[in-house]
Amino acid sequence: MTQTLPPGIRHLPIYLDRASQERLLEAVRAIVAEAPLYIPAMPKTGKEMSVRMTNCGSLGWVTDKERGYRYQPTHPVTGRPWPDIPDMLFEIWRDTAGTDIEPEACLINYYDSSAKMGLHQDRDEQEFAAPVLSISLGDDCLFRVGGLKRSDPTTSLRLQSGDVVVIGGENRLAFHGVDRIYPGTSMLLKREGRINLTMRRVTPANKAIPGKV
Ligand code: SIN
Ligand code: FE2
Repeated sequence: MTQTLPPGIRHLPIYLDRASQERLLEAVRAIVAEAPLYIPAMPKTGKEMSVRMTNCGSLGWVTDKERGYRYQPTHPVTGRPWPDIPDMLFEIWRDTAGTDIEPEACLINYYDSSAKMGLHQDRDEQEFAAPVLSISLGDDCLFRVGGLKRSDPTTSLRLQSGDVVVIGGENRLAFHGVDRIYPGTSMLLKREGRINLTMRRVTPANKAIPGKV
């Protein structure tokens, strides 16, 4: 059954075939070798998230107890710049994002079999004209997407390895989250779990020139 999704939200099932998933996984492994997964913590409380994170791109999304949610050009543990976004990810963005705006950040989330991510909005960016593009690798998950208010009704989707989800348009700020992982549903990774990549534009794409019309 095809589910009706809110406007601006698109689900592209198995957008990447198995060979492309393997190629992307190799690129992710190279990034993680340079920029290791770290344990993100919630602002203020310092509560550790169950997801492990790293990034590629000129900016990466990070969070910790002291400084909270933000983008920064360096890895919070190694202090080194994030690795470049692989060409393959730029190609996927150009093909699916529906915009000329270039992405700057790619957050890489690793979920083990018990990890999840609570309902939240991606709103730490300064540019909302570009969508958030999500790519899944490894085990299936139960993804939930709602509306612009936390209390809006939500739709649940089972995402598989190779799926792309576009969160954009009037629902660029839709609440979304991952309720559960289905361990052992994919043979792509060496172990159980799921990798999710989310690409975003962070800085304003068109800087207005004061005084010009
Ligand atoms: C996220 O919202 O950052 C991740 C979404 C997902 O894992 O599918
Ligand atoms: Fe998100």
